Order: sequence, then structure tokens, then C-alpha cells
Amino acid sequence: KFEKNVIITAFCISLVFIFSLFYAMGAKKADVTACLPYDKSYETARVNQVDKTTYQIFYVARMWSFEPAIAYIPVGSEVDLFATSLDVVHGFDIYNKNVNLMAVPGGVAKTTIKFEEPGVYKVICHEYCGTGHQNMQAEIIVN
Ligand code: CUA
Repeated sequence: KFEKNVIITAFCISLVFIFSLFYAMGAKKADVTACLPYDKSYETARVNQVDKTTYQIFYVARMWSFEPAIAYIPVGSEVDLFATSLDVVHGFDIYNKNVNLMAVPGGVAKTTIKFEEPGVYKVICHEYCGTGHQNMQAEIIVN
């Protein structure tokens, strides 16, 4: 009888976890990071305007910097972010923006975010990558 209660409780807890996961993916639009097939063009850091309110930023990470170091984006834009690395695994985190990617050599991580508020958004490396790790950052300036 007691065992049965434990099993039922455990089952309910798992259901809550699974539900939360789907809830996070769906309702809250927590962007599940996409991994794209790799090609050399991702090794060229650049900002690309797709149309009036859509931009792409191709980030290249290496010890110990991100390119582009500064990207200018008009407020209200939707931005596709792509990140790769030329050497070791780096992290890619936009402070206050719910973006958390890994920049991996030979791979591309992609996510899409919208910048509704003007400001300076800090990009930082959150994966230890050597002695210059804590200085590895970039900025997205939204205005
Ligand atoms: Cu790059 Cu830490």
C-alpha cells in the first residue's frame, strides 16, 4: 500500500516535469536551439539586413573575442543569431535576453530573438575557454 503511494507520487512528479518542459517550449516560446548543417560561410562574421525589421548576425567566436564585437540593430527588429567557433567550444549568452547558445568549432547554433527595448545588450562567453575567458564579450546596441 505504501509502495503504491510512492509510485503514484513519483509518476505525478514526472508528469509535472514533462508538462513544464512542453509548456516552456510552447507557451513561453523558449526557443529550442537549432543546429544547422555547417558550411564555411559561417566563419565570416557579419551583420546582414534581410528586410526592414529582420536582421541576421553571424557570430564567430575565438580565443578570446566575438566578431562582430559591436552590432547595431534598430529597436523592434527580429534577429536571427548564428554562432560558430574557430578554435575551442565557447559559450554565447546574451545578458537579460534568455539566449544561451554554444559556439562549437565545425557547428552552427541558431536562435531568433526580438529586441523590443533600446539598450546595450552584453554578449558574454559562459563556457570556460582559457585565460582570456572572462574578457570575452561583445555588444548588441539597439536603438
Ligand atoms: Cu570563450 Cu569562455
